[in-house]
Amino acid sequence: MTDAPVASAAYAICGVGDIPNRRCKGFHLVRVEEDGSEKPFHILIVRWDRKLYGYVNHCPHQGVNLDWERDQFLDSNGMRIICGKHGALFAVDTGECVEGPCLGNRLEKLRLSVLDGDVCVNDVVLAEDAQAAANDAD
Ligand code: FES
Repeated sequence: MTDAPVASAAYAICGVGDIPNRRCKGFHLVRVEEDGSEKPFHILIVRWDRKLYGYVNHCPHQGVNLDWERDQFLDSNGMRIICGKHGALFAVDTGECVEGPCLGNRLEKLRLSVLDGDVCVNDVVLAEDAQAAANDAD
């Protein structure tokens, strides 16, 4: 075992079937930073037909979580991600703000993969898995 986080690790978040088509689900995770500190890591995952998109749940306008009610991330047409605070609209596939006070900015995109039917997030270290890896090394 190495002390450095493995950048290519993939962390299973949920099953693909846990997110209905053209719906979005939020997850409250804890991320391990490079200095070893732990920080809240709130993300959202959108399932759109055969594709999945993941973003950090953080509006570029004022830095708040996007969902004003749990898992309410899509606008009334169900076509774009919306920030519940001031109504900024974001494209599902790119995270770019297409309307609202942060026009032209974008949500921070996550790199996702699917392994054995699970949606996984890559390029981060999550607290529970870091603990499990430490326990495995004992
Ligand atoms: S905080 Fe999101 S649009 Fe203002």
